[in-house]
Amino acid sequence: MKVGVIGAGTMGSGIAQAFAQTDGYEVVLCDIKQEFADGGKAKIEKNLSRSVAKGRMEEAKKDEILGKITTGLVEKDTVGDCDLIVEAILEKMELKHEMFQNLDKICKPECIFASNTSSLSITEIAQGVNRDVIGMHFFNPAPVMKLIEVIAGYNTSEETVQKIKDIAVEIGKTPVQVKEAAGFVVNRILVPMINEGIEIYAAGTASAEDIDTAMKLGANHPMGPLALGDLVGLDIVLAVMEVLQAETGSDKYAPAPLLRKMVRGGALGIKTGHGFYDYTK
Ligand code: 3HC
Repeated sequence: MKVGVIGAGTMGSGIAQAFAQTDGYEVVLCDIKQEFADGGKAKIEKNLSRSVAKGRMEEAKKDEILGKITTGLVEKDTVGDCDLIVEAILEKMELKHEMFQNLDKICKPECIFASNTSSLSITEIAQGVNRDVIGMHFFNPAPVMKLIEVIAGYNTSEETVQKIKDIAVEIGKTPVQVKEAAGFVVNRILVPMINEGIEIYAAGTASAEDIDTAMKLGANHPMGPLALGDLVGLDIVLAVMEVLQAETGSDKYAPAPLLRKMVRGGALGIKTGHGFYDYTK
């Protein structure tokens, strides 16, 4: 099966790796500039090299996985023969509309369209597209995290839902079926928790390290809310909070002012080298 992953950022490259690691899957990783797509593949190479260095993967396996990933722009030549598209571009509805409407023209009719959106409406993304669109929501880091939320939009067929669930299992993940709702399940719970951690930090109640230690040792979370915000990307955290607030009409989802300030200041977390922690060293 050939999968076109659109968007070579943190999630896109992780998703591409998750597919390429599975026998029988090849991937074309696309972005708006060739250098962005190549940058995504370089991230995968770095990840795989880490596994090799830890003795968890053979060098030959790494080469085999990388050999199954090509890179390019979103064109008929690169994605025209894909069986599945997983879109992981910016969380902006206009961009997603434009992307899927273009893909609709250049992809073969049997190709399934999936979006990795964190919280946008699948039904709205599907507007103007003449085929099924479904949510296939991965979690960061995508090669490691076992869950995939499978989100059916208003017009998504049961057949497409089943196909995506089967693919999720084939690549070693566990699918859960979710009805369309702001934030789906995980982000509805997790992202307000991160936002709350930011409010606590902004109030000066505890240091970033102590807030994270508190949740790691007090709630057995693998990482604290601020470190998790840095991992997910604070721009994504803000985008999800804004969707939750707009869709529910409830100010209980109001983004923390500090979150907004940090995003405006370009402190997005690991991807920009700086968030609640410094990643430049
Ligand atoms: N990319 C790829 N692989 C990674 C990685 C990354 N960023 N970070 C860690 N890994 C891999 C490591 O290579 C290692 O793999 P290996 O066993 O093959 O060597 C494995 O994960 C375990 O890593 P480590 O031993 O270095 O570290 P930990 O055991 O501390 O685990 C963690 C790291 C998996 C990130 C763990 O801290 C964790 O589970 N954190 C919570 C993550 C989480 O909640 N994610 C969901 C975010 S919400 C989301 O994504 C939705 C979106 O819409 C906002």
